[in-house]
Amino acid sequence: MEFKKILVTGGAGFIGSHFIRHVLNMRPATQVTNLDALTYAGNLENLRDVQSNPRYKFVKGDITDTKSAAQTAEGFDAIVNFAAESHVDRSILGPEAFIQANIVGTHRLLEVARKLKIKRFLQVSTDEVYGSLGDSGSFTENTPLAPNSPYSASKASADLLVRAYNHTFNLDTVITRCSNNYGPFQFPEKLIPLMIFNARSNKDLPVYGDGLNIRDWIHVEDHCAAVLEVLEKGKSGEVYNVGSDNEWSNIQIVKSILKELGKPESLIKFVKDRPGHDRRYSIDSSKIQSELKWAPKITFADGMKRTISWYLDNTKWLQNLQSGSYQKYYEQQYVNR
Ligand code: NAD
Ligand code: TYD
Repeated sequence: MEFKKILVTGGAGFIGSHFIRHVLNMRPATQVTNLDALTYAGNLENLRDVQSNPRYKFVKGDITDTKSAAQTAEGFDAIVNFAAESHVDRSILGPEAFIQANIVGTHRLLEVARKLKIKRFLQVSTDEVYGSLGDSGSFTENTPLAPNSPYSASKASADLLVRAYNHTFNLDTVITRCSNNYGPFQFPEKLIPLMIFNARSNKDLPVYGDGLNIRDWIHVEDHCAAVLEVLEKGKSGEVYNVGSDNEWSNIQIVKSILKELGKPESLIKFVKDRPGHDRRYSIDSSKIQSELKWAPKITFADGMKRTISWYLDNTKWLQNLQSGSYQKYYEQQYVNR
């Protein structure tokens, strides 16, 4: 079913901002409200091109604040919850914020959805809830949850609450679990934008451990198309994995960025490993592909080329982000590592 009024939480972040743009483009009769607390990762610049669209509205607010979330959600058909603390390294430096935003926040939003009889609640989750794989195999929707970081544990907890609200209160819910995203507007704490920015300014490229950890990469626009499919066609109570069969080791990614930028591999610096670092992620997305007819469209070669040139063309977007607090995080995370 097509929803006419969608509340997107966390829409000022990386993926949520692409999702809002996708919905406004693909569903010309749909109104979208973006409820976002504007944490360090929230940036209204990500939505500059849609800010004057009459079908789009921004509300500054926190999903843990039940009263204001309920006021904002009144009259909406669907809630799509992207709002979260999203970076594993920050969850190691300070787990508390992850418990608040990802667990308490999701719970309070579920309560709002239940009380207001919202028709559908979509939880945007991650493949990281399944833990880490060895050399073979992929995560299916039936893989047991085995999160290893405070981030993934908080996301898994939220998924369990969503499941419980579906079973106990008959709230119509769906969950998506996607692999690592890349694309424009990603905060430069994450692997791909961080490496592009450092390489651009001839700074060291900090690769954790032996660089052989594997991630399964998907372009953010393919992820957003999948979220809309699940929102409209997914079966209540179900989980849908989202991925594009695209596994690379971190060192392969870093070397490909250096090659594209014409920079030397001597910029690579192996640094102390991340504690509890998951070795490999690999997502089996055959369920969404066969049941909902979704398929990724963007090849990694093309997506990466476009992503790198976007970052090179948008240095002002980056400069505006590199506030005092980002510098402080960078020093804490990388200097003397
Ligand atoms: P992000 O960090 O770029 O954006 C998160 C957004 O949520 C920010 O705009 C922030 O201001 C907002 N936010 C945080 N706490 C909030 C709160 N309490 N109330 C309201 N807003 C709040 O994250 P992202 O990479 O865009 O990820 C979005 C969602 O997708 C997250 O739930 C994440 O777990 C999930 N996910 C991310 C990836 C990935 O590769 N980035 C992959 C799979 C799933
Ligand atoms: P990241 O983008 O933080 O995503 P996630 O941990 O959620 O998968 O990291 C992707 C991979 O890159 C992960 O294996 C950790 C590694 N990594 C580095 O080697 N160096 C870095 O500076 C960062 C940020 C990540």
